[in-house]
Amino acid sequence: MNEGGREGIEMRQIRIALTKGRLEKDTVKLFESMGFECGSLKNKGRKLILPIDNKPFEVVLAKAADVITYIEHGVCDIGIVGKDTIMEYQGTFFEMLDLGFGKCKFALATKVGIDFYSGYNEKSIATKYPNVTRAFFKSKGMDVRIVKIEGSVELAPLLELSDGIVDIVETGVTLKENGLFVIEEIADISARLIVNTISMKLYKKEIEALLAEIETVPKE
Ligand code: PRP
Repeated sequence: MNEGGREGIEMRQIRIALTKGRLEKDTVKLFESMGFECGSLKNKGRKLILPIDNKPFEVVLAKAADVITYIEHGVCDIGIVGKDTIMEYQGTFFEMLDLGFGKCKFALATKVGIDFYSGYNEKSIATKYPNVTRAFFKSKGMDVRIVKIEGSVELAPLLELSDGIVDIVETGVTLKENGLFVIEEIADISARLIVNTISMKLYKKEIEALLAEIETVPKE
């Protein structure tokens, strides 16, 4: 992809790829506080591309990892995605803002009563985030066996599939209700605004204005 490749191409609406689910509500709240008309976003039904009627933006609703893919490929210009997803998938884009919501932590956790670091056997870790997990244990000089799980990772130690988990912890309720506890916090997470590198040049004025406007909104 190069900047020259877009010359002569009809300019389209600036596309904001928004992570479906947890970050959706807070993003709509942020947009509304900036005067964006979010009617179609709030009554979206099963639609996946929604206009912001009074702004030159349209919102694309996507799964977290796909937000990064769409931004990297330049089919969306601005992405709103958790730092957890950025740490796991990385990629080439500009990370421009910490939006201050969607706050949680990456943590290593296991069953209450387990002394995770005792013994010399190789530990197994269940996670949705194998890259983050690998990097964390590498920084400790520890070899671990990683088991990739797609959701409700807390099940793995309960079913004796793994010695521990690396997962995101927000309120801590899921760990507590399942007899698990945090051994170690790994990183702070929050929603970030990312921008495709070419879009940053192509829509410089609009994107810079948007960033400046977001920064005037008080963070909670
Ligand atoms: C996340 C995470 C934990 C839970 C933590 O899962 O994987 O399971 O939230 O939140 P808490 O600390 O507030 O209890 P999510 O709800 O996104 O669903 P998933 O397990 O299906 O991925």
